Amino acid sequence: MAFPDKASSSEQLLNAHGHVWNQIFNFINSMSLKCAIQLGLFDVVHKHGKPITLTELIHALPINRQKSHGVDRLMRILIHSELFVKVSIPDKEEKEGYWLTPASRLLLKDDPSSVAPFALAQLDPLLIDPWHHVGEWFQNDTPTPFASTHGKPFWELAGHEPRLNRFFNEGMASDAHFVASIITRDCKHVFEGLKSIVDVGGGTGTVAKVIGDAFPGLKCIVLDLPHVVAGLEGTDNLLTFVGGDMFDFVPPAEAVFLKWILHDWSDEECIKILLKCKEAIPKKENGGKVIIVDMVVTEDEKMKEHEATETQVFFDMLMMTLLTGKERTEAQWRELFSAAGFTSYKFTPCLGLRSLIEIFL
Ligand SMILES: C[S@@+](CC[C@H](N)C(=O)[O-])C[C@H]1O[C@@H](n2cnc3c(N)ncnc32)[C@H](O)[C@@H]1O
Repeated sequence: MAFPDKASSSEQLLNAHGHVWNQIFNFINSMSLKCAIQLGLFDVVHKHGKPITLTELIHALPINRQKSHGVDRLMRILIHSELFVKVSIPDKEEKEGYWLTPASRLLLKDDPSSVAPFALAQLDPLLIDPWHHVGEWFQNDTPTPFASTHGKPFWELAGHEPRLNRFFNEGMASDAHFVASIITRDCKHVFEGLKSIVDVGGGTGTVAKVIGDAFPGLKCIVLDLPHVVAGLEGTDNLLTFVGGDMFDFVPPAEAVFLKWILHDWSDEECIKILLKCKEAIPKKENGGKVIIVDMVVTEDEKMKEHEATETQVFFDMLMMTLLTGKERTEAQWRELFSAAGFTSYKFTPCLGLRSLIEIFL
């Protein structure tokens, strides 16, 4: 194939130039979103209850009035990102106003399933700084760009930095609420009939609480690192928190739940975790299973939509930058399960970009 060189038309070169500029400045989308969450923009428009004019918005926002000139510019990029829409308001002097989109509804601060805490966690300088060191990591012998930047692996630093521990757990809890509310509505059959479940790496227990409410009588154990579960109290004998290391021990239960755990780890590490899960559960004929929530990377080129593919490669790079993990295709998942000695599995793609995977002994 001919390499585009000086013989390219000026139009081709200018298009390529614009494309490169957009790649350079992609981070401005993320940072504008962060600013909007910090200012409570989504909440202000939602509270207004109807499309809001620029003047009304400027008055409702907690900003220095001298910075008002920036509001319509911030709104312009957020509209471009489809986080707001501009609509006409014929009965107002300004004639136009801003309104929410389905995406902006997910960014309201007080909604328990809001993506806002997840966004603020991922866009915190502690998690952004490692991105400056990916090139250096390729050339040194540190396990991750995160460790290259902060001198410690992610989970170890989280045990020493209460702020990281807090904002990361809050971000995870918001995603856990979002996922748990969908699986208890649309994938009930996966949990029906279970008497006990252990949520390994279950954070501060959000999934366990939602599942416990949806299936009264189901005994839930949450295993996570001691600094994550410190001070957390179970509600009664149906919810218990255990501080420990999943590489050493997984408390016995009929089912193990692993949400967003295996993608954090390399294949070798995943096999060690799965072997501990195997020791914790009974065989399939006695109701035993491991339930996994993770992404299954699309392999079929024709099935790939641009936006979904972008999300998958973003997450894969995220796992490589912060942790030692990766996103896996269905074939890679199957290989992992059989290497850990699981004999059958069922993939249920009921969570958008993520799937619910049941594996059995
Ligand atoms: C990506 S978060 C997922 C949290 C939760 N499952 C969710 O999806 O909302 C990974 C979790 O694994 C926990 N974790 C990391 N290493 C662990 C270990 N060795 N033993 C137990 N939990 C661990 C972390 O503290 C964190 O809560």
